[in-house]
Amino acid sequence: MCGIVGYVGKQQAVPIILEGLKRLEYRGYDSAGVCVQNGRKLKVEKKAGRVDNLAKKIARHHLTGTTGIGHTRWATHGGVTDANAHPHLSSDGKFALVHNGVIENFAQIKAFLARKGYTFRSETDTEVLCNLIAYHFAKEPAVKGQSRFLESVRKTLRHVEGTYGIAALCVDFPEEIVAARKASPLILGVGDNEYIIASDASALVSHTQNVVYLKDGELVHLTPSAFTLSTLDQADVSPVVDTITWSVTDADKGKYPHFMLKEIFEQPAALENAMRGRFAADGSTANFGGLNITPAEFATMERFMFCACGTAWHACLVTEHLIERFARIPVEVDYASEFRYRNSPLDPRTLFFVISQSGETIDTLAALREAKRKGHRVMAINNVVGSSIAREADGGIYQHVGPEIGVASTKAFTSQLLIGAMVALYVARMRDMSFSDGVQYVNALKSAPDLVRQALKLAPRIKAIAKRYAKFHDMLFLGRLSLFPIALEGALKLKEISYLHAEGYPAAEMKHGPIALISKKCPTVFFAPSGELFNKLVSSMQEIKALKGPIIAIVTAGAKLPKGLADEVITLPDCHEAVLPIIASIPVQLLSYYIAVERGCDVDKPRNLAKSVTVE
Ligand code: AGP
Repeated sequence: MCGIVGYVGKQQAVPIILEGLKRLEYRGYDSAGVCVQNGRKLKVEKKAGRVDNLAKKIARHHLTGTTGIGHTRWATHGGVTDANAHPHLSSDGKFALVHNGVIENFAQIKAFLARKGYTFRSETDTEVLCNLIAYHFAKEPAVKGQSRFLESVRKTLRHVEGTYGIAALCVDFPEEIVAARKASPLILGVGDNEYIIASDASALVSHTQNVVYLKDGELVHLTPSAFTLSTLDQADVSPVVDTITWSVTDADKGKYPHFMLKEIFEQPAALENAMRGRFAADGSTANFGGLNITPAEFATMERFMFCACGTAWHACLVTEHLIERFARIPVEVDYASEFRYRNSPLDPRTLFFVISQSGETIDTLAALREAKRKGHRVMAINNVVGSSIAREADGGIYQHVGPEIGVASTKAFTSQLLIGAMVALYVARMRDMSFSDGVQYVNALKSAPDLVRQALKLAPRIKAIAKRYAKFHDMLFLGRLSLFPIALEGALKLKEISYLHAEGYPAAEMKHGPIALISKKCPTVFFAPSGELFNKLVSSMQEIKALKGPIIAIVTAGAKLPKGLADEVITLPDCHEAVLPIIASIPVQLLSYYIAVERGCDVDKPRNLAKSVTVE
């Protein structure tokens, strides 16, 4: 994935584009570039490395102009080099293009263009696309009342297979941008005689909160005074202007050194936002406005299927546990990337759910489409308003936790757990759960923000533990039932931001293989809450102790561990089963964060990773 920004208006474009690119860096950060329309010239500056590198380079040159485009790259076609960085120019110098996505038939198009005399300086599919625009432009007749620039982009896009969010400049059309999307997000910020086009609202929210979410197959033509929306088939589209409900401070780090830490500490408020207005007046069940399915229809469902990727997949596993435990409906969970190719038989009375923070993860989107193709209704649990998944789902539940910028998901994850717990309650109350059990469950969910606040107070202690464990190279995470997915999540968090090898298992699976890893060089993070399995958890810990494996135990207040069994004990408040996975996520998020910081890792931009994976 990559981030793109374009500006047209009365201000200097470069500072606005650079600010936007900085905010989009979580989408890709291997190279960056800008292009401004300066009189009758397109001026490009681009460089491998972060946006700051580019900003330093630009500071040495005067890049003035009130129309421009920019890009922060996550390499898919071609290595990380200055030449492969965007924007790309067509070989006749007439067009500049930034692109987020993959053009699948670029090799055929490139061969065709090469035969026509077009030349290429990079290995990218984007440069091919840019030259194809130039090719169509050269052939496009000037028609009164039509923009030749817009029409040549439109014609080009009819010939490409793959995904794109693009913004283009044309040297013959100063003060104009043409942008378009297919399966890569694009949002238009509508200002006062100025427009910003960007991959994500965080790049434009400091300038305007009025936005138009482009749909797949739509093009937008921008001038400082107007914009028009149309389709690939040349049909006009009436724009719907939405208002973003969060502000620029939500997308800033504030007093925190990293977005990840900020987002960890935002969790009490995020949980409050995720459940606001979503409990029935009698206080015994949940209420969802956007499901677009009546309670009666919901009640006829005999099975649920949940699909997602990564952290969101862990949220599916916890939700499966809670729905089966409280609502007694069978639930199946699959990786979206597997489901889309598995051709899994699904009973018609299966309600399909996808979970995705970004709403743009290509595998999750493909799973949603596959389920719809098979005639299923698809519900989405999703954070980004107006995302592809939000738009294509039949109904859904927004997470309402504001922008999540850190690549490692934290507040989005716990809000997915909360919403999953609410779905379990909603279904359970349609079935066997009593009114009083429902009230108890609702009160437990309402207590989650305060319990998370208590858990966050453990941060200094967890930081001290992290200092002692940052030198290890392997770590195991063990838990049972609803805490098994939290063990998986703890291992994923540690892997992705500190590059340590970590694995998560159900605690009782340890003796079927992972126990071979135990030694004084491999610590185990062990979830041992109070409850009926507590004594079994203690036995497993004793085995680890006997093999001299260091233990970091995460317990709840009611769980009394034998003295000296664990090397470190982190004590969480006791809580309801539906809330426990949320509370138990906090120490593993903090532990991973502080270990990564201790190891000098770039927490918000871990190597090889991007925030949302929009290519297969
Ligand atoms: C989370 O820390 C990861 N960066 C990653 O696993 C992520 O959860 C996954 O790519 C799914 O993203 P989505 O929720 O935006 O679909």
